[in-house]
Amino acid sequence: MCSGCSSLSLALSLFTNSHTLSSDRGGSIPVEIRTAVELQRINLIHRHLARLSEAAMSQSSLPASSIAPLKCSRADGIHTQEETDGNPIYDPHVIDAKMVQKLVYDGLVWSSLHGLVVGDRAVQRSGTVPGVGMVHAPFSLLPMAFPEGHWKQAGELAPIFNELIDRVSLDGQFLQDSLSRTKRVDEFTSRLLDIHARMMEINKKEEIRLGLNRSDYMLDAQTKLLLQIEFNTISSSFPGLSCLVSKLHRNLLSHYGIHLGLDYVKVPKNAAVDQFADALAKAWCEYNNSRAIVMIVVQPEERNMYDQHWLSALYNTHGVATVRKTLAEIDGESELLADGTLIINGEAVAVVYLRAGYAPTDYPSESEWRARLLMEQSSAIKCPSVAYHLAGTKKIQQELAKPNVLERFLNDKDDIDRLRKCFAGLWSLDDSDAVRDAIERPELYVMKPQREGGGNNIYGDDVRENLLRLQNEGTEENAAYILMQRIFPTVSPAFLIRQGICHKEHAISELGVYGAYLRNKERVIVNEQCGYLMRTKVSTSNEGGVAAGFAVLDSLYLT
Ligand SMILES: Nc1ncnc2c1ncn2[C@@H]1O[C@H](COP(=O)(O)OP(=O)(O)OP(=O)(O)O)[C@@H](O)[C@H]1O
Ligand SMILES: [Mg+2]
Repeated sequence: MCSGCSSLSLALSLFTNSHTLSSDRGGSIPVEIRTAVELQRINLIHRHLARLSEAAMSQSSLPASSIAPLKCSRADGIHTQEETDGNPIYDPHVIDAKMVQKLVYDGLVWSSLHGLVVGDRAVQRSGTVPGVGMVHAPFSLLPMAFPEGHWKQAGELAPIFNELIDRVSLDGQFLQDSLSRTKRVDEFTSRLLDIHARMMEINKKEEIRLGLNRSDYMLDAQTKLLLQIEFNTISSSFPGLSCLVSKLHRNLLSHYGIHLGLDYVKVPKNAAVDQFADALAKAWCEYNNSRAIVMIVVQPEERNMYDQHWLSALYNTHGVATVRKTLAEIDGESELLADGTLIINGEAVAVVYLRAGYAPTDYPSESEWRARLLMEQSSAIKCPSVAYHLAGTKKIQQELAKPNVLERFLNDKDDIDRLRKCFAGLWSLDDSDAVRDAIERPELYVMKPQREGGGNNIYGDDVRENLLRLQNEGTEENAAYILMQRIFPTVSPAFLIRQGICHKEHAISELGVYGAYLRNKERVIVNEQCGYLMRTKVSTSNEGGVAAGFAVLDSLYLT
């Protein structure tokens, strides 16, 4: 009997539909000034609303057995639905409880032995001293079903998005113009724009550009459309730990798959961390100074440091030295030579890789802003440059979704069509029709400020309240936000493991696809998809961050 199993608690949350709709909402968006694409989206939302009402009604009449705790039936009795489209690949209600315990125990052991770990909040020094206070990263016990066609689609989009963002980053005026109103009300974005404007003034060229990106998607349950949540250009997290979760799931299924009716080969291999490391090392090569180092910019306390260390152990994999520095340390310890070389403690920096600097809290004083400016002025390759950072803002995502904007940056019509197909409805708060509809039916929208790191978006009734407040105040603060169509993925049962405790939940998933892009002038050296991140969270949770405590790491099972 394994000691870990005794603490196994199978918490069960009742199925509650977070998207409950009141049937008397009948507001509609006036359509006369809409484009065909927008009309299509509006229709989608309307159809979506109708279907959700039906779904909510049918779920309210589910028999009690559908939310019963685990039954101790034989493992052989597990029903699998491998050929289904987005349906669960196993039925946790008939899965043998002993089998779950074994899987949990083995999963916890595997995580501890293979570095699928994060700093433990309960241990004070866990965010600063490696090896002190580690706990397994929250993970899903089994992979989540995902249709193979959508998986391929997401992979094929990666190089197109990489190229798009690179081109957007070169159009300084587009970035400045698109964000000009946001600048007036959002101090953080304003500071980034100031640095960007200074670089434009001195005509600073970034000849070598490195993007380590991640495009996040949800699969909308009703329309079966793969819709983009957002595109991350700064500090795309979990390339390290996501690979480990894929390995963990392949490992568990190679042992227990036969009992579960699941085949480990259907969990795609995930080489995100190796591919990101290769791209970093190739960027270092392009800089062409064999004594230069890669500088990882980090937060002073980082409980997700192991994910970063998996990537930054470049000395072992590529013979490239790295150093970890906070923005404040960079301000105190670095200098800029006349030729633009960035020096930190006497060593030249070839690549600056930011795993910090994406949130206002990363800049508690002017010292951090000085560091950001100094890095930007230097000849080091910035991952990301401030232009890439701005190109990844939610406002730019919304601008790119406007008619004829993609055409400014891409020539290939097929590429443009593919990108557009994955755009959800996105609106500026200047769009009075969208705002009116969101006030009437806030559950169909998400309101987003220009922030990264999770926990900043506004959902549900808060959307209505905030929109009404902004309308009443009549200030320019509305330029700080965008409105986005809310996506509703399929709800599936899942076992989510946190702190050694397994919770059986109704969950939804979000697929992130990593992409690396490296270019030196006209030469594209790397432009590829680099593995994936699946994040799964309780269906009633709005936000999705793993580090922020909303989601767990997962992998996918192709169906
Ligand atoms: N349109 C949407 N429909 C449904 N859920 C959404 C939508 N937009 C965001 N979310 C949820 O909120 C989470 C955070 O949203 P988003 O990625 O836009 O913010 P972020 O702060 O940039 O997050 P991250 O730290 O992952 O980059 C997502 O992971 C997702 O779970
Ligand atoms: Mg983000």
